[in-house]
This record gives sequence, C-alpha cells and structure tokens, in this order.
Amino acid sequence: MWLSQFKSKKGQALAVPLLYWIFVVTCDGISADDEQIVQIDRLAPATYHTRTNFLSITLDSSTIGNGFNVFNMTDTKLIKMMGHLSPGFLRVGGTLGDRLYFSPDSVEVDKNVDLQIATNFTMTGAQWLQLTDLAKQANLDVIFQLNALMRLSDGSWDYSNAETLISFSDEHKLNLDWELGNEPDIFHQQFNEEVNTTQLAKDFATLRSILDKYETYKESQLFGPDTTWPSEGNKYYIRDFVKDASHVIDAVTWHHYYMNGHTAKAEDFLNPKIFDDLSAHIKIVKDAAKEVNASSVPIWLGETSSAYGGGAPNLSDIFIASFLWVDKLGVSAKMGLELVARQSIVDYNYALLDKSYNPNPIKQPQIIFYSCMPVAVIQHVHSLIKEQ
Ligand SMILES: *[C@@H]1O[C@H](CO)[C@@H](O)[C@H](O)[C@H]1NC(C)=O
Ligand SMILES: *[C@@H]1O[C@H](CO)[C@@H](O)[C@H](O)[C@H]1NC(C)=O
Ligand SMILES: *[C@@H]1O[C@H](CO)[C@@H](O)[C@H](O)[C@H]1NC(C)=O
Ligand SMILES: *[C@@H]1O[C@H](CO)[C@@H](O)[C@H](O)[C@H]1NC(C)=O
Ligand SMILES: *[C@@H]1O[C@H](CO)[C@@H](O)[C@H](O)[C@H]1NC(C)=O
Repeated sequence: MWLSQFKSKKGQALAVPLLYWIFVVTCDGISADDEQIVQIDRLAPATYHTRTNFLSITLDSSTIGNGFNVFNMTDTKLIKMMGHLSPGFLRVGGTLGDRLYFSPDSVEVDKNVDLQIATNFTMTGAQWLQLTDLAKQANLDVIFQLNALMRLSDGSWDYSNAETLISFSDEHKLNLDWELGNEPDIFHQQFNEEVNTTQLAKDFATLRSILDKYETYKESQLFGPDTTWPSEGNKYYIRDFVKDASHVIDAVTWHHYYMNGHTAKAEDFLNPKIFDDLSAHIKIVKDAAKEVNASSVPIWLGETSSAYGGGAPNLSDIFIASFLWVDKLGVSAKMGLELVARQSIVDYNYALLDKSYNPNPIKQPQIIFYSCMPVAVIQHVHSLIKEQ
C-alpha cells in the first residue's frame, strides 16, 4: 500500500526504481541505526517504460517430465494464483525441453524423469491442451521451447516432431509463441552434444518458415537463443548466433543466475559483489548485440532466478531472496531489458508458489510490482542520509 503514494502524475508507479534505490542505499555500508530517506522527483522524465508483461514467469520442462505431479492443471487455486501474475508470458522450457517428444495420441504419461540422466520423455496431446488451457484461464501467453536436439545425420534440425506439435496446436487454434532449444551454448556439458551458432541460426530460419505456413502462427513470435549468462567458455555464442539470426528472432533471450544453489549461503544473498554480477552480464550481452549491429532487437532475460540447480534450499524461496529479486527487476528495467521471466511458478527451491499453491515469501515483491504496473524508470532519485 505504501508504494501508492509514490505514483507520479501520469499514474506511472515507481515501484522498481524505488525499491531498487532503497536497497542500494541500505547496502552502501550504512549502519542500521542511520535513518534513510529516499526522495523521488515526481516530475522528472522517465528514461524508460517497461512493457506490461515485463515481469513474466516460467514452468520448467521437468515439471512436464514428472507427469505434472506438482502442478495440477485443473486446480482452481493454482489458476487463480497464476492469474494474479497476468499480463505476462508463461515460458515453458528448460534443460529437459531438449528431451521432450510430443505424442498427440499417446495416453501413457511419463513420471519421474531423471533430470541427471536426461532421458527422452513424452508430452501427450491431452497434457498439452490442459497446459495451454490453464494459461488461457490465467490470462498468460505461452512461449513454448521446442526440442532442438532432434538432429538429422548432417547435423541439421529434425523438425518433424516440432511440426507435429505446431500442426496439432494450429488445429486447436492455440495462442503461442516459440523458442528452439534451451542453453545451446552448454549442450556439450548437459548432453555431450554440440550445435554451433551457424547451424542453430539456420534451424531458427527453418522454424520461422514452418510457422509462416500456418495461419495461426504467421504472426507468432520467435525468441532465442536462450543461452546461459556469458562467461569465458561461451561468450561468443550469443554474439555469433545473433549475427546470423537477428532477422528471424523477435528478442534475444539469455538466462541469468547469480550462484550455484547447492553451495549458496545466506550471506551471498546480501553480498553487493554478487548483486553487481547482473549489470556486468547485461552489459556484455548488450555489447555483443551492438557489435553485430543488432541493437534494435529487444533483449530479454528469458529465464532467471537467484541460484541455479533448482535454487538454494531454504534460501531461494524465503524473504532474504527478495533483495536480489527486486534488484534484478530494477537493474534490468534501468538497463533497458524488455522482459524478465522468473524461474519458476512451481517446483524446486525457487518456486513462487509452494506445494499448496500459496505464495512463498519471495512472491511478495512480485505482487507489489504487479499492483503498480506499468513501471517507469527514473534516474532522478536521491538518497539522503540523516546524521544521527
Ligand atoms: C486437481 O484439481 C482438481 C480440481 O480442483 C481436483 O478435482 C483433482 O482431484 C486434482 N487432482 C489431483 C491429482 O490432485
Ligand atoms: C533422445 O532423442 C534423441 C533425438 O531423437 C536421440 O538422438 C537420442 O538418442 C535419445 N536419447 C535417449 C537417451 O533415448
Ligand atoms: C556447424 O555445424 C554443422 C552441422 O553439424 C556443420 O556442417 C558445420 O561444418 C559446422 N560449422 C562450423 C563453422 O563448425
Ligand atoms: C556493423 O555496421 C558497421 C557500420 O555500418 C560495419 O562496419 C560492420 O561491418 C557491421 N558489422 C556486422 C557484423 O555486420
Ligand atoms: C528448511 O528449514 C526448516 C525449518 O528450519 C527445516 O525443518 C528443513 O529441514 C529445512 N529444509 C532443508 C531442505 O534444508
């Protein structure tokens, strides 16, 4: 409630920068005894306005692999909770998305697919219809990541199963946007396979031409390459892909996590050095797009959370993780990213909803954020520290 008083004249709420600045002020080595005042110049021009679906959510493909055992697609409470997060995208993808086989007529449901072994699994037509219906009821737009690891002997993408899914979806007039492959830059680590950027860009062009054949999907959007955050081993992957594919993608997507969930400690969630990791990586991605003259293509955080590997137990879903999350929203908006998709709605330690579909404490900032949409980014925020 207290945020509403900061609404500017045009009704643009300042929740993100406000929370962001409060946090920066709090973290600047100031003792807790100091009174801190944040001033916002309500008449200052906004430097950037986020889109209404700036804040989106994800569902990991492993939730499908596990037979939706923690995600009851007809549960009215779940639908209602997800509806609170609309408007936005529900991005359905993940490591196991490159092991997903679509079988429209199958009635057998796979359960307990082992993420480590990453065996192939099946999504049935009935499951797919239920999932898209759930999203429709929650007023969320589905982005579906197609399996990029079905390959022909010459190394090119075998799109036959993808086209089965596209044509089935077309028959049911499902409203969808698309991705192809999850974290292709680390396929060698995850699957001991390799798809280079030239080939992947060609595969994206192939997918675009397939989509263009369908009335329902001519206007649908295609996002990629959904790489991990840039580091020594993969820093050219995103650049080289975008160089060849900028004309077929509607946004450059990449994923960001600050740390490994298996080793993360509570103090990491408050360490300013860890916070700074995000802006450094956004800069690398923006520079990469600029280098190949693709600055006009929007940049999205297509999947992101605090810690990878399913999040940090008892940390990623509690209040302490809200600081990194709110900072991520603020920094991303300030640096001009168009969209941030939060991993994940249910399942694992970073879930927004617990097993009974009640919000985990981390979700609170998300609710505040949504109640204040749309958001404008302003630079003219001053912090004053009052001496005791
Ligand atoms: C899923 O939710 C529906 C509607 O609330 C309920 O009837 C059904 O029993 C639930 N299924 C499971 C497996 O819990
Ligand atoms: C999974 O499917 C791919 C593509 O069809 C195939 O190349 C691969 O061998 C399969 N992997 C397993 C473990 O079955
Ligand atoms: C990229 O992969 C394709 C398919 O495997 C292969 O034909 C091509 O030679 C590769 N290109 C480079 C530059 O490695
Ligand atoms: C980007 O544009 C500049 C200036 O027009 C040009 O010199 C450069 O070769 C272009 N780079 C790429 C990768 O297209
Ligand atoms: C999380 O904390 C609760 C309460 O302190 C404890 O009972 C539980 O075992 C912890 N779970 C994990 C996975 O550490």
